[in-house]
Amino acid sequence: AADLVVAIDGPSGSGKSSVARRVAQVLQLRYLDTGAMYRAVTWWLLEQGVELTDTERAAELTARIPLRMGTDPQRPTVHVGDVDVAGPIRESRISAAVSAVATNLGIRRELVARQQAIAAERGVVVEGRDITTVVAPDAPVRVLLTASEETRLSRRANELHGESTESTVEATRDEVLRRDADDSTVARFLDAAEGVDVVDSSHMTLDETVRAVLDLVEKRT
Ligand code: C5P
Repeated sequence: AADLVVAIDGPSGSGKSSVARRVAQVLQLRYLDTGAMYRAVTWWLLEQGVELTDTERAAELTARIPLRMGTDPQRPTVHVGDVDVAGPIRESRISAAVSAVATNLGIRRELVARQQAIAAERGVVVEGRDITTVVAPDAPVRVLLTASEETRLSRRANELHGESTESTVEATRDEVLRRDADDSTVARFLDAAEGVDVVDSSHMTLDETVRAVLDLVEKRT
């Protein structure tokens, strides 16, 4: 249906962005990357020289961020005001700082409200860490996408360094595992909440994983 909400959570390297975009394309739904919203807030706060440890000030400024998420799954965009931040928010300085933003409860309240407003407009595939539990707990389709640590590290190394070798995987390990540990304090995304379907993509191709999620959509709707 045109107003279907599909919620997908998972840790970094689980493949959730690629899977969520493809599912949205197939079902002709919009696509919302909530991680990109936390990253854009991080970029904006650093840009303004705000101390991320000043949680009140950070939350206050976040309430006024002119953040615009483009939800076309073929070409998702992220703008803060007129600035296209799609590239900058993937930099490692942002990945390193984003957990400080994600653990700020005032910021979470603001972003969750914006995510729910976007989801209420029209059908969408929403991906993140707390979508199945907090943002869209009533979505008819809720999926936790997991993958073994080895698989996740290798996928991230590919993403960040263009290849998965022993040295690129090592270079990625710290970033991924530390972010997982930090993130696990804000949302429970390593095990599934009640009623959430688990898809383990460790031994699946992208196509197979997309198929598995589409099968769940069929089963649950
Ligand atoms: O998905 P991605 O790895 O780009 O997310 C970046 C960060 O944003 C995560 O490490 C996490 O700290 C935060 N995040 C969150 N809740 C979400 C999505 C992302 O706290 N729904």
